[in-house]
Amino acid sequence: MRLPTRRDFPKDFTWGVATAAYQIEGAASEDGRGPSIWDTFSNTPGKTKNGDTGDVACDHYHRLEGDLDLLRELGVNAYRFSLSWSRVLPEGRGRVNEAGLDFYERVVDGLLARGIEPWVTLYHWDLPQTLQDEGGWARRETVEAFLEYVDLATKRLGDRVRHWITHNEPWCTAFLGHLVGIHAPGTRGLGTALQVAHHLLLSHGKAVPLIRTNAAEAQVGITLNLHPSHLASDSPEDVDAARRMDGYQNRWFLDPLYGRGYPRDMFEHYGLSAPRIAPGDLEAIAATTDFLGVNYYTRQVIAYASGEGVLELRSVQPEGSEYTHFGWEVYPDGLREVLARVAHDYSPAQVAITENGAAYQDVGSSDGQVKDEARRAYIEGHIQACLRAVHEGVPLTGYFAWSFMDNFEWAEGFDKRFGLIYVNFASQKRRVKASGGWYRGFLGKGP
Ligand code: FCB
Repeated sequence: MRLPTRRDFPKDFTWGVATAAYQIEGAASEDGRGPSIWDTFSNTPGKTKNGDTGDVACDHYHRLEGDLDLLRELGVNAYRFSLSWSRVLPEGRGRVNEAGLDFYERVVDGLLARGIEPWVTLYHWDLPQTLQDEGGWARRETVEAFLEYVDLATKRLGDRVRHWITHNEPWCTAFLGHLVGIHAPGTRGLGTALQVAHHLLLSHGKAVPLIRTNAAEAQVGITLNLHPSHLASDSPEDVDAARRMDGYQNRWFLDPLYGRGYPRDMFEHYGLSAPRIAPGDLEAIAATTDFLGVNYYTRQVIAYASGEGVLELRSVQPEGSEYTHFGWEVYPDGLREVLARVAHDYSPAQVAITENGAAYQDVGSSDGQVKDEARRAYIEGHIQACLRAVHEGVPLTGYFAWSFMDNFEWAEGFDKRFGLIYVNFASQKRRVKASGGWYRGFLGKGP
């Protein structure tokens, strides 16, 4: 298949780049922002690589106008970013911080003035610390606090923002944050993780009608990180292990969102750790959405591993494959596969790729350019996979590259660079990488 061009996609296709508040904003304790669980976590020794924190990150809070100009330079027609809950509600509920809302109004107005459509993620992992102190997402009351925050944000921005994403990757919040423990808040218990997942889904479902009330033209969705779960061998043990991995990562979220309740095989597998569900919860979670956001980075190749973790399996790294700096296999066809599967099994009205990208160790060459050919090839290959999915009939309407610029990569700190724009974190200088230049060229040759 020849290389894709923008003209191969529908005229009104959304082409963007994505970020998240804690990863770029900095200004962690300025203008009345309250701490979030990521402030606490990253400032706890030993939790992130090199002890990196988002205290300053890309200093985006102070460099907003220049960054918005860079977005325009890239030629994107949309930008996905998230709001920091504790910047607008420093204690998570109650007292409103007007300065925080003002900042997001400036982001939205600055985007619209540049002809760029804002896509707002309401929750990208940074729960206000005060709510964590009360028990966090493990407590059902946090759902109500989330709705208060969503009400505030959508009332303020709903007249200008038409695309709303409730949660980013609830799998990560639930399991990396509460089972594996490598993300904030960093606890380790299956029962808690599953209860957290349930409350995240419930808060999504309850937010959907609220957003529609406050933002008349709103398109509402949720973003999941999905992986094809492939087999290390065709032994019955591996087949079964891959099914569990698919249940854990994909079906546990997709099934209830699309009205099927939790997958029975996994519910049974989790036994006494399965979540408590109140009457009406599953109906609320299944609220109809306008689009499904999919974040795709890699596939999983799964082998049975006796006694290993709750799922008794491990991921293997196929030989001969190419891997990114994160150690993630480059596997573009997995994106086509995930899209085809989602369209076939769940029939979402629309799908948008809300993140896709790769970490590489960028080095500047003597002329000061960052020649990140591997990242460019990764993105082009995945856009090609998107085109295949469109040809297979998937209602794909958008693609966002992760990320607009290098940023604070959670537990990996500043060690993993995903940006189309290089950030020198000492000087805060930005420079468009070769991949960014390529994307700009790709988008420039549009309809
Ligand atoms: C996703 C996150 C995003 C970024 C990428 C690399 O899981 O949503 O914030 O860290 O991974």
